[in-house]
Amino acid sequence: MNYAHITGWGSYLPEQILTNEDIARTIDTTDAWIRQRTGIGQRRIAASRDTTTGLALQAALRALAVAGLPAADVELIIVATSTPDYMFPSTACQVQGHLNATRAGAFDLSAACSGFVYALHMATQAVATGSVSNALVIGAEMMSRVLDWQDRETCVLFGDGAGAVVLQGSSRPGGVLTSKLRSDGLQSDILCLSAANSNPIPALSSENGHARPVQNTISMNGRRVFRFATRVLVESVQDILAMANLTLDDISLIVPHQANFRILESAAKQLGVSPELFYTNLEDTGNTSAASIPVALCKAVEDGRIHSGDHLILVGFGGGLTWAYALVEWQKDVASIYIPATYHAAAFARA
Ligand code: UT7
Repeated sequence: MNYAHITGWGSYLPEQILTNEDIARTIDTTDAWIRQRTGIGQRRIAASRDTTTGLALQAALRALAVAGLPAADVELIIVATSTPDYMFPSTACQVQGHLNATRAGAFDLSAACSGFVYALHMATQAVATGSVSNALVIGAEMMSRVLDWQDRETCVLFGDGAGAVVLQGSSRPGGVLTSKLRSDGLQSDILCLSAANSNPIPALSSENGHARPVQNTISMNGRRVFRFATRVLVESVQDILAMANLTLDDISLIVPHQANFRILESAAKQLGVSPELFYTNLEDTGNTSAASIPVALCKAVEDGRIHSGDHLILVGFGGGLTWAYALVEWQKDVASIYIPATYHAAAFARA
């Protein structure tokens, strides 16, 4: 078995910033309410010409550059997204085409805000068994296109963006050490985004505490999602520590899905740790769904919060319901052992 190391990472956020004050000019909300109840101050919104594929591609190019891996050598591309440009071709296939990654298999993965950790788990299995020697794992979302901008309970929460990591196999211990996928479809109705051809789930109604059925926009019962998220975040950390025979003292940083700062505070309190152990950048990005963990991971590296030898926990949770968690041993210098002699930037150019 190989170890699946994270050798490259990259993120991309659209330029346009939408502040809480901007939203408060169009609907009945305030900057103070949004900050106090969520921790969010602003989010990035894609331009009308942007595509999910385009965001994913930018993040992928940055991750490949950090890894020093030519696109032509990539063997697997997984894009976690709930906002693909098309049902098919997949976002991953379009990224593959733009990269001219002619050796890669490519597919999209649907697990809402848990999608990146789901994809990381699947790619790790493929690398660890030797089925592929590397994989590009991307979370990319255009949440702004699936929001009801009159629904103040959801539209203030989300933002657009993409993040990616490169996984590469090595016999050297480290990388994604263990991970687990979980789901609870019986609660699928508390957080939904219907497809273009679907009927709303019949059980949905605001009276009985389920999410509101609005076609093609996100509907959510915020309080129930909040309770679910707080519970599984705590359980996920406890379970992965047990799986790896580690304690919280061994963990340098937890990079959770960036949904609401109060969810992280509550989880930290229940675990008996400082909220500082949970990395957060949602004040600037909002909730970017499947992109949130890789975007946060990149920012944590940039902020100097991650060092070689650190043990990190990644935890995603969201629609499905789904949740997933991974333990990563970070090897800062590991990329250097993979840089191929032939690497140059032109490897990314489309033939
Ligand atoms: O990736 C996973 C996706 N989703 C989540 O993680 C969401 C999890 N849930 C949450 O983050 C929180 O439940 C919310 C931020 C959505 C809501 O916060 P809350 O503290 O649970 O508020 P609430 O739903 O209990 O609502 C309290 C009040 C209500 O008014 P009344 O009925 O007390 O008069 C809401 O109508 O806050 C009102 N409200 C707002 N007021 C100003 C709800 N949204 C807003 C808003 N601005 N944007």
